[in-house]
Amino acid sequence: MSAADIKNIPALFSPLKVRGITFPNRLVLAPMMQYQSINGFANDWHLVHYGKFALGGFGTVMTEVVAVQERGRISYGDLGLWSDDHIPGLKRCVDFLHGQGALAAIQLGHAGRKASTQRAWEGPGPLTEVEAQRGEKPWTPVGPTNIPFDQGYQVPEALSIADIERLVQHYAEAASRADQAGFDVIEIHGAHGYLISSFLSPLTNKRTDAYGGDLQGRMRFALEVARAMRASWPSHKPLFFRISAEDGGGQAGWGIQDSLIIAPLLEAIGVDIIDCSSGGIQGSSTLGNTTRGPGYQVPFAEKIKNEAKVPTMAVGLILNGKQAEDIIHSGKADLIAIGRQGLYDPFWPLHARQELGPDPEFIGYEEPSAWWLKRRAASLAQIGISPAGESENK
Ligand SMILES: Cc1cc2nc3c(=O)[nH]c(=O)nc-3n(C[C@H](O)[C@H](O)[C@H](O)COP(=O)(O)O)c2cc1C
Repeated sequence: MSAADIKNIPALFSPLKVRGITFPNRLVLAPMMQYQSINGFANDWHLVHYGKFALGGFGTVMTEVVAVQERGRISYGDLGLWSDDHIPGLKRCVDFLHGQGALAAIQLGHAGRKASTQRAWEGPGPLTEVEAQRGEKPWTPVGPTNIPFDQGYQVPEALSIADIERLVQHYAEAASRADQAGFDVIEIHGAHGYLISSFLSPLTNKRTDAYGGDLQGRMRFALEVARAMRASWPSHKPLFFRISAEDGGGQAGWGIQDSLIIAPLLEAIGVDIIDCSSGGIQGSSTLGNTTRGPGYQVPFAEKIKNEAKVPTMAVGLILNGKQAEDIIHSGKADLIAIGRQGLYDPFWPLHARQELGPDPEFIGYEEPSAWWLKRRAASLAQIGISPAGESENK
């Protein structure tokens, strides 16, 4: 694409270079759990599900959270990368995404005390006798301490120092496997009350050793994981870190001031983008702790980008092209993650591109569609109808 072309395209569709990788546009499919895996393996569902978002124009397609350890799964349906056997299934998805010109990102995580739960639509809640009857027996989750996530949830096993050291190694090994599968970007899941987040928050980390206590202690595990993953992930590939910018709910938990402290520490380790989510530490994650209107978490991304001077990704009820364009254009974030609006419309980026101004070449579309759409647009224009099928003389 020439410099002149780039000048005329919306900021949302401008490329972004991070380390040795160029993001084709600013749109990233947000990590969204599918619960469709068996024993952690990617299958046809994942190929088609993730593939459709590459066809839909997402410059970067991020997987749902992928477990670095078997017991770190949220549910029996989670993807995993705790063994080399998991590499080929994921590589098949990555190869398809690359074939469509999209980058492949993987979110790696560990559910911690929020492990051993039902698929969202089966509860959501801890595994019960019903699931056990069909072979999905509950397992014992782990956490910084033995405080359960909520009433009725299992009591987690408090991790020993040796367990923590082993876990850091698991994260690093998963990063190296992600590289073997061909992923371009890793995001460390440090949000929503899962393992890393539960170490960060004073509401859930009541340890009295080096991994608990003051902010320094509570951040230790997150920083060790980031350091180990950076070391086993090629230096030309970007590393993201998703935080809950604040626990929310008016509780004296992790807050935005803590996020402003950890962001530059992560950057110094080699994290390139802070993905700014929130909540999930206690109570139902589907209810949430924060008041939710359009772009409700954008102020977190803006603050971390502009005050801590660390590049960010914004996420949360970003619904249309104009809203997303404004976030990028006004410098509130560097990337935009689209979640549920992508489930509603997997072709969201292509539609946003049309919304933000005429794109007579249908640039984001694959050639088998673009060729026809260009010709159709020309004949529709003659009768005053837009490519979306609407009258242009409203
Ligand atoms: C079905 C579903 C599954 C999700 N799974 C994950 C996940 O695996 N990892 C994660 O960090 N967030 C997960 N989230 C949160 C989304 O990534 C996103 O932050 C949230 O949905 C808000 O963005 P949205 O309003 O664009 O959907 C999930 C959300 C949904 C709706």
